Amino acid sequence: MKMQRTRFPLFQSHLDLAHAYWTSLVKPGDCVVDATSGNGHDALLLARLALSKEKGGALIVIDKQLQALEETKKRLSCELENDIFKLAHFFHQCHSAFPSCISPVSASMIVYNLGYLPKGNKEITTKSETTIKSLEAALPLIRVGGAISITCYPGHAEGKKETEAILEWAKSLSPQQWSCCHHQWMNRYESPGLLLIQSYLES
Ligand SMILES: C[S@@+](CC[C@H](N)C(=O)[O-])C[C@H]1O[C@@H](n2cnc3c(N)ncnc32)[C@H](O)[C@@H]1O
Repeated sequence: MKMQRTRFPLFQSHLDLAHAYWTSLVKPGDCVVDATSGNGHDALLLARLALSKEKGGALIVIDKQLQALEETKKRLSCELENDIFKLAHFFHQCHSAFPSCISPVSASMIVYNLGYLPKGNKEITTKSETTIKSLEAALPLIRVGGAISITCYPGHAEGKKETEAILEWAKSLSPQQWSCCHHQWMNRYESPGLLLIQSYLES
């Protein structure tokens, strides 16, 4: 009899955990947003979870670097069928404000993978001020049961400042409306963290 191999630990990283969380929440036909598209790995998973020929759905992809947006577009167009790819919409802009095509209380998931583009210019990184502004703008877009997922990187100076600011901001969210949970590997030095903010009441 073939033995089933189990991989330990169950979640190898903050991204593993984030992806498991998205998978449990996002359903075909949903509206989802990638607010930092980068090389498009996260956007591809979101597209696979939310976009469907039968149920439609929408994926909003945002990055302030054209290079990142083009890379994401290329990845999605190669990996997805054309009918599905057409449900993805690309915006070359800062995420401090969201495109008006996203209706209030409509998104099941808004994703941030903070920091800089891997192998790109490390000077072009997410910053506390614009990230907090974006998170404020994201809250009213989340539908009941939907969530915001933020992966933070305190391993570099700007990322540390940003992580501290976000965690402080998250503490101010109403516990009657938002479930706010921060995950971090405690026995790894300055390990990345995952902040999950789920709505259980209408804004
Ligand atoms: C760590 S990468 C994202 C990785 C990506 N999700 C992936 O799957 O490859 C962070 C991205 O955030 C983008 N970014 C930084 N500041 C931004 C801002 N204010 N608005 C939108 N995108 C921003 C960067 O250009 C970079 O591509």
